[in-house]
Amino acid sequence: MCGIIGYVGHRPAVPVVVEGLERLEYRGYDSAGVAWALRGRIHVTRAKGKLAALKEKLAASPAVTATCAMGHTRWATHGVPAERNAHPHLSNDRSLALVHNGIIENYQELKAELSARGYVFHSETDTEVLVNLIAERRKSEPDLLHAFARALREAHGAYAVCLLDCAEPDTLYAARMSAPLIFGLGTGENFVASDIPAFLPYTRRVLFLEDGEIVRATASGHALFRLADLSPVGREPQTIQWDMQAAQKDGYRHFMLKEIFEQPRVITDGLAGRAAPAGDGVLLPELAHLPVPARLHVVACGTSYHAGLWGRHLLESWAGIPVQVEIASEFRYRESPRFGEGDMALVISQSGETADTLAALRLMKERGMPVLGLCNVVGSSIAREAQAVLFTQAGPEISVASTKAMCSQMLTLALMALHWGERTDTLEPARRRELLELLRSLPALLDDNLPEMHATARELARKYAQARNFFYLGRGHCFPLALEGALKLKELSYIHAEGYAAGEMKHGPIALVDPSFPTFALALDDALFPKVKSNIEEVQARQGKVIALTNPGMELGTDDVWRIPRLPAPLSAFAALPALQLFSYEVADYLGKDVDQPRNLAKSVTVE
Ligand code: G6P
Repeated sequence: MCGIIGYVGHRPAVPVVVEGLERLEYRGYDSAGVAWALRGRIHVTRAKGKLAALKEKLAASPAVTATCAMGHTRWATHGVPAERNAHPHLSNDRSLALVHNGIIENYQELKAELSARGYVFHSETDTEVLVNLIAERRKSEPDLLHAFARALREAHGAYAVCLLDCAEPDTLYAARMSAPLIFGLGTGENFVASDIPAFLPYTRRVLFLEDGEIVRATASGHALFRLADLSPVGREPQTIQWDMQAAQKDGYRHFMLKEIFEQPRVITDGLAGRAAPAGDGVLLPELAHLPVPARLHVVACGTSYHAGLWGRHLLESWAGIPVQVEIASEFRYRESPRFGEGDMALVISQSGETADTLAALRLMKERGMPVLGLCNVVGSSIAREAQAVLFTQAGPEISVASTKAMCSQMLTLALMALHWGERTDTLEPARRRELLELLRSLPALLDDNLPEMHATARELARKYAQARNFFYLGRGHCFPLALEGALKLKELSYIHAEGYAAGEMKHGPIALVDPSFPTFALALDDALFPKVKSNIEEVQARQGKVIALTNPGMELGTDDVWRIPRLPAPLSAFAALPALQLFSYEVADYLGKDVDQPRNLAKSVTVE
């Protein structure tokens, strides 16, 4: 996830663009840059690190008079955070500059074609490939608009891009495919940006670009086209009513809610480039040069630990790899854990900076074990120190309580299990195809069902918010989800909640059950449903109230039955997870708690 902005109008453009980037910094902050065209040349200033570094560089140069410019704030997905990878990227002939948010999945193929024609690349980005492809296509197309459209039709993936040409210094071109892009209409000035706050001080009149659309804009006007055939699109602008704070949250009340609703997009991005649009292949070049582990030691903290516990079920059943999952703060002080031949470690961390996880990684490296990292933040300590890293590509997570990051970790773990399952011949091609099809169906399924799940969560939250204690029960792959559900409830609403393996209740915890101690039971349609149903009946026999999270058609006589769409286990977790998150969110919000920044917690725990 990155932020882009373009401006064309009557003001000095660079300060407008930099100010817009400040309001997009939540989308990424590992490097930034701006470009403008003046006297037949494109000028670019870029800097690694937060926006302050770019501002310092710009302040040290003479003020720029250009009235058209574009900028980018980066969240690395290809290539480490470094100035050479920062946007804007220039074509080899320096005639074009491009900023890009998204992933071009076939950039390696396009790069090979361009390299064969003599193009050279100075960065590791897919963006530099795309800007050169546009330059190449320009040679055979009547104008830049046609060349831009043709290059974009050849590029597969998700993108929002903005293009500047040295020959047309007062015109911006921009396009969108599965990544946000909004056009802002001012008076004598126009904007294009990844998000509305970038230009909200100047205009509230917007056009939401749709997938497969291109816009060409000058200070006095704009034209919108379909990418497929450059036919014109007529669309009336809308006036948005949000204030700045609401706009940064995309209109959601809290970042947490926004991030829960981002999960369909997170799955789409996580599959991009890794699961071909059809077929049974999973592309994980990060793992290709490593042997399949004989045994995998997963180490993590908090929500990432729960993702690891869930991933174990897939890695064991789909790939036949024995997996051990441990809490990092425990693992690092255990006396000489023995590692065997072919053992491998996997550390999971959204931030890549959690002190205990980092210490565990170093310990395992010292003991000669190959360590894989599963991280969200490119350039983080864990990402740098692990021998190989898989990035979860969830974009910055602002809310302290982790939501979309867990979804992205689960998805990547599923892809790893498929990849190793293929190499160990544990999974038949037909089964792999079926599982991949299911993964590909998740974004649409969640997009369709999240609003209704949210409404149910709100209703149940009002009914149960006065409870002082809660059990969360699950079995099999739903046990880690029960742990996560309980963690979310306690961290957000400060209600005591315990996640328990449903079958273990009879060994003690059931003594706590009474009419004031409700239970949230994960009773999805899978092989363990009859067992969970019996466990629920045991709770009900002690007058415990039960919310059962289940699927259509499952027979359950609980106080509340919450039916979510059916998916085969273990992928049903992708539908159960947002239900658990939404319930905790709604309870906390109803109780008036600080949802995005709960007391006593930190997003990234860099101390022991
Ligand atoms: C903190 C956060 C949690 C997170 C945990 C591990 O406690 O509040 O949301 O799950 O750290 O963080 P990591 O960045 O390593 O995944």
